[in-house]
Amino acid sequence: MKIIAPSILSANFLKLEQEILSLNPAQDIWIHLDVMDAHFVPNLTFGKVVIKDLEKITPHPLDAHFMVDDPAFFIEQFKDTGLHNFTFHWEATKHHDSLVQKARQYYPSVGISLNPSTPVSSIPAYLWAKIDLVLIMSVNPGFGGQSFITGTIDKIKEISALKQKYNPKLKIQIDGGVSDKNANDLWQAGATHLVAGSYIFNQTPDLYLKQIENLRS
Ligand code: DX5
Ligand code: ZN
Repeated sequence: MKIIAPSILSANFLKLEQEILSLNPAQDIWIHLDVMDAHFVPNLTFGKVVIKDLEKITPHPLDAHFMVDDPAFFIEQFKDTGLHNFTFHWEATKHHDSLVQKARQYYPSVGISLNPSTPVSSIPAYLWAKIDLVLIMSVNPGFGGQSFITGTIDKIKEISALKQKYNPKLKIQIDGGVSDKNANDLWQAGATHLVAGSYIFNQTPDLYLKQIENLRS
């Protein structure tokens, strides 16, 4: 199944309720929530107050991508927000295994994200079986609307091979600069989830569902 995860970072925050409701009829999407702390990345977004309200108006799984220095704090803080997936950054901690275990207590799905310059080989073999999702950043994290870094496609292929060996159910998510120009290559390389912000939301709302389907086909 090809999952599209619209990133609300590129939505109109003055009309956030309408933006979310306009995605309600879509099939097989996750709502991608970029939580930034102005330390791990030079940007600050939104927190649990906003997410708890969004959870009330969407039927879709909430997929949170934490670009934060202290994932352990956020694991605790967001446990009552209804998140489906909790992804933290590999680069933010030395205690990957411990954080995966901690997050698993509260969230149905746990992911690890790799910055563009972090090699796939950073993740030890045994850990692949302990996570549900890997998020490959295809831009440097912090902002929407950046250009796709082409070299990251090789990382998807590398992970696809590891997936067969260690965790056939692993979800492979790509985030940053995703559009109809690269979507096919990403699916072909083994991606299962494409995150897209500006490609979806830099349109009028009546085109959001069409943009989502463009990425799938
Ligand atoms: C960037 C975020 C992305 C961002 C993607 O740090 O993690 O989710 O919203 O935006 P686009 O699709 O515009 O590159
Ligand atoms: Zn993201």
